[in-house]
Amino acid sequence: MADSESPARAPSERAPARTGEFSPLPLGSLSVWPPVVLAPMAGVTSFPFRRLCREFGAGLAVSEMITARGFREGNPTTLALARGGPGERPRSVQVYGSDPTDVAPMVAALVEDGVEHVDMNFGCPVPKVTRQGGGSAIPVRPRLLARLVRAAVGAAGAVPVTIKIRKGIDDDLSTYLDSGRVAVEEGAAAIGLHGRTAAQLYSGRSDRDAIARLVSAVSIPVLGNGDIWEWHDGLEMMRETGCAGVIVGRGCLGRPWLFRELAAAFEGERPPTPPAMGEIVPILLRHARGLVEFFGADAGMRQSRKWCAWYTKGFSGARALRAELMRVSTLAELAALLARLDPAEPFPRAALRTSRAKRGRTQRVRLPVGYLDDRDSDRPPRSPRGGVDLEAYERSLCGG
Ligand SMILES: Cc1cc2nc3c(=O)[nH]c(=O)nc-3n(C[C@H](O)[C@H](O)[C@H](O)COP(=O)(O)O)c2cc1C
Repeated sequence: MADSESPARAPSERAPARTGEFSPLPLGSLSVWPPVVLAPMAGVTSFPFRRLCREFGAGLAVSEMITARGFREGNPTTLALARGGPGERPRSVQVYGSDPTDVAPMVAALVEDGVEHVDMNFGCPVPKVTRQGGGSAIPVRPRLLARLVRAAVGAAGAVPVTIKIRKGIDDDLSTYLDSGRVAVEEGAAAIGLHGRTAAQLYSGRSDRDAIARLVSAVSIPVLGNGDIWEWHDGLEMMRETGCAGVIVGRGCLGRPWLFRELAAAFEGERPPTPPAMGEIVPILLRHARGLVEFFGADAGMRQSRKWCAWYTKGFSGARALRAELMRVSTLAELAALLARLDPAEPFPRAALRTSRAKRGRTQRVRLPVGYLDDRDSDRPPRSPRGGVDLEAYERSLCGG
């Protein structure tokens, strides 16, 4: 079922870009065209998916968030996720950290290793994180936010640093305009706004009015984020808000060709229609092969299973295979299963505006006791040390 509040409308009603209507997104020395960024997504935007999305036309592909704590402690998974893939350019990494003394050396090390864009995650709404004063709780304390951005910008040198935020904690506590001011003052190259509060999680619609207000309030490029399900959503987001680029998250899960459609539209061409199953199967197999190469056979195949569900969502022919796809354990087995699908089955329109991950519900955001009484503090939150399983903690972080 489509979970967006706006019903699917036929793309033919929407116009691709007019000549000169949009410009490349300037990020320091980088010029991103089309101005379309693959969102950082934990458990999703590892190298194999970034590569696919770039090949399909994404202007920039950000890594999943990499925790500064895991990086500092030399956690092998963290370090592996922070590494780029062969030939990956520009390399873009999202840093998650709430202590400037962790963030600065991490950014310096990433830049030394060839990273060309650093994004900072200040939107994570997960209770475990906000309860400690991390994630989307950080913008509640603008002076702490400023210290973190300053630490990253200082360590990054000429490499552009951007920040990614939500609107605020809830309807009563909006933080995005303060964060915009901080981003400008501390030298961030751009700011991405997911137009929802932490309380909203993924429910409701991303608020384009808020994105437009941020565009008017700051002198750096704003990236609009939230609910780009089809190519025309990206153009509409830019037309309605004046933002300089868009960040695409859930809309491309199992649909990396969404970037092909966006790229065409930004070039002023009528985008191709979404692929039929016959074109999807080799894309899915290539993705699964990439996961196996990057993570090893076991972890790669385990990860492939969720992608199988996402790539085949809404295809009636895949329903009978779903249980087997969820158990698939080798690439050969996967290829054999996919060979049973009808290559002529067209892409189901109903699956275009359907969230493949993180459906709508709301939450009451947990903050540390007394947190709101001292919004002027610039002290980093306590981090969960001693006795905390770092791997489990990292897995529980899910970004903004
Ligand atoms: C599975 C998943 C993982 C995510 N992980 C991160 C993350 O690591 N860092 C981050 O800033 N946002 C993360 N997000 C939020 C997205 O980057 C994006 O802001 C959000 O999904 C809204 O965009 P959309 O409506 O296009 O999905 C994640 C979202 C999803 C669905």
